[in-house]
Amino acid sequence: MDHSFLIKPLLDETYPVIDYGKGIHLFDMDGKKYLDAASGAVTANIGHGVSEIIEAMNEQAKKVSFVYRSQFTSEAAEDLARKMSGMLSGDLNWCFFVNSGSEATETAMKMAIQYWQEKGVQTKTKVLSRWVSYHGITLGALSMSGHTGRRARFVPLLEDFPVINPPYCYRCPYNLEAPNCGYLCAHELETAIKRIGAVQIAAFIAEPVIGAAGGAIAPPKDYYKVIKRICEEHDILFIADEVMTGCGRTGTMLACEQWGISPDIVALGKGMGAGYAPIAAAIATEKVIEPILAGTKLVMSGHTLSANPQACAAALAVLQYLEQNNIIQEVESKGVYLQDQLEKLKALFPFIGDVRGKGLLLGIEFVQDVDSKTPFPRNARITQRIVELAKEKGLLVYPAGAGIDGINGDSIIISPPLTITKIEMDELVHLLKETFGDFLNQLMKGLGEV
Ligand SMILES: Cc1ncc(COP(=O)(O)O)c(C=O)c1O
Repeated sequence: MDHSFLIKPLLDETYPVIDYGKGIHLFDMDGKKYLDAASGAVTANIGHGVSEIIEAMNEQAKKVSFVYRSQFTSEAAEDLARKMSGMLSGDLNWCFFVNSGSEATETAMKMAIQYWQEKGVQTKTKVLSRWVSYHGITLGALSMSGHTGRRARFVPLLEDFPVINPPYCYRCPYNLEAPNCGYLCAHELETAIKRIGAVQIAAFIAEPVIGAAGGAIAPPKDYYKVIKRICEEHDILFIADEVMTGCGRTGTMLACEQWGISPDIVALGKGMGAGYAPIAAAIATEKVIEPILAGTKLVMSGHTLSANPQACAAALAVLQYLEQNNIIQEVESKGVYLQDQLEKLKALFPFIGDVRGKGLLLGIEFVQDVDSKTPFPRNARITQRIVELAKEKGLLVYPAGAGIDGINGDSIIISPPLTITKIEMDELVHLLKETFGDFLNQLMKGLGEV
């Protein structure tokens, strides 16, 4: 290939060039086939090359690809907002369409601050969050993110928003077991609010299932009920970052539904456009919009490409496809089957510490010693090694962080397209087993220079 000027994740790395995708598979220019067990980055929720979505985008492009949101609206954006409002729980009705998950969480944060301002409260400007979390790479979103590695370079520019422990039962900071733990990690929010002062705090943000920073950490059953109650008692909005978990990934449209709670604002992205178009959203309840509607009427956020008609047409077609093919209804049983198969691998390989997750957002944490849960040394690059070994075998898995300090820990996420069949799940598990077999051989030879 000619010299490349494209900035890729690693500047001097050679990446395969993908020729085309079909269903859960991608094919590179050399004809190598990859089973996409990561949906890219938990994004390609309905698989690759779905003709209904391509046709919908094409039809929209024939009419108009771009209109600017402060001059016009479009049928595609209006229809998408109506569809979303119908599919979401409670009165999460008001959709602000943006282009990435980072923009969605940052817009949610700005909406929360503005909600209080329009009610005449100027002091509530902090958005508290948890450690071992990721809400995006822009500075506002990164300020809310408790992702040690991704914050490190920019710490002087960031707000100190992460304040409490995550619900990380495998490494419970209190050495307790749910549900008899009293949900102490959730109650940390109350302590933090009292120390900082509710009068300073606009909202609390959390990922219902922790993704990139933790490797699919799902909370114990009543965790979010406690969180929601604390938020309500202290006049703090609850923002659910469902960029990774939303649009059916865990078996319901929003993961929050599984714990019987509804956020004041939700951020969606990734699976919303399922990779067919860059689109994301911050969606607010009537309660949040009410004072803004009665006040300035202008939500102070936005991007040139917000509510892009072609991207909206793609997302609308994705939602319709999910509904017409009953895809979300089948996620729970598929997830149970796949998690069972991963548990079987855990019994075979001594470096698997934990298998966890919800629906088709599953995680595997790797440890040096299963009994003590000791992580591998950081510079042994265990996650990267496993991701690379899998890729050689034609299996794509998603690298994630793990460990309570956000530095020492290794995990991968298994998050295939929601359309995956049982036969394909078996193929996935077979490739993963071979990958782990190769890794075990490496381990037995020693980790080399670390
Ligand atoms: C939970 C969550 N929120 C926000 C983001 C940021 O989304 P994006 O990469 O589209 O900006 C991500 C990305 O991984 C995410 O997992």
